[in-house]
Amino acid sequence: MNASQWISAVFSPTGGCEKIAAAITQGMAVRKVDLCAPIATESVQVPLLAVVPVYGGRVPEIALERLRALKGNGGPAIAVVVYGNRAYEDALLELHTELTANGFKVVAAAAFIAEHSIVRTIAAGRPHAADCEQAAQFGRAVADKLATGEMSTVCVPGNMPYRERPQMPVTPLTLESCRGCGRCARLCPVGAIPASAPHTTDASKCILCMRCVAVCFRRSRLLPPPMLEGMTQRLNMVASEPKLPEIFI
Ligand SMILES: Cc1cc2nc3c(=O)[nH]c(=O)nc-3n(C[C@H](O)[C@H](O)[C@H](O)COP(=O)(O)O)c2cc1C
Repeated sequence: MNASQWISAVFSPTGGCEKIAAAITQGMAVRKVDLCAPIATESVQVPLLAVVPVYGGRVPEIALERLRALKGNGGPAIAVVVYGNRAYEDALLELHTELTANGFKVVAAAAFIAEHSIVRTIAAGRPHAADCEQAAQFGRAVADKLATGEMSTVCVPGNMPYRERPQMPVTPLTLESCRGCGRCARLCPVGAIPASAPHTTDASKCILCMRCVAVCFRRSRLLPPPMLEGMTQRLNMVASEPKLPEIFI
């Protein structure tokens, strides 16, 4: 099977997953599928690389929902989760299980680390050069495995039933400096920001993915400071020690 024909399906609200996907597929001509927007149902005939972030030790539901549009037909998939140096818990098992249910054979899997998209001082600057080199090596090793026709599936850590999805306690705030350009509304992966009122957020839809905060040119969106301070303190206690990528092949 030709490695240049991979599909790279990525849910990356703030860019960490995108960096890992780009490193894994370095030098390959892949077709990108952006899971931050709705996608059409498709029968996949080539290896599928699925890269998603970890939220509360799980895969964001919207990413799984969109991935379900890609049907496997017994073909190979590579399951990759990216987390902010705390823990990935059940997320890799959840992604593996979903891809298998969609008709793929999960021939390789990995967990990589990127800057924490809520508390940006945690794992700041990751993925760094060594992470990207490991991701590129992983991509080459998977391509070599597939080139031999080897389709054995991998086992990954995690527990069932999965841990509960955490409830999102708040939505990002909008400062008075907002000029209502609507960029956040256009780019919100779940349509939680109305185009007609971009200074507001629909709390019933928001998944706190931080994309609106990351993409605002005026820095008019931010988390409520007390919440950010509380999370920073908690993560400083449990997520300061740098974790290493884990690879299953
Ligand atoms: C709502 C939310 C929950 C998160 N939960 C976890 C977690 O359980 N463990 C962890 O290590 N990182 C967690 N993170 C950090 C992200 O997994 C990490 O920053 C990832 O790289 C984000 O991907 P992106 O940059 O492509 O958006 C969380 C981030 C968000 C926004």
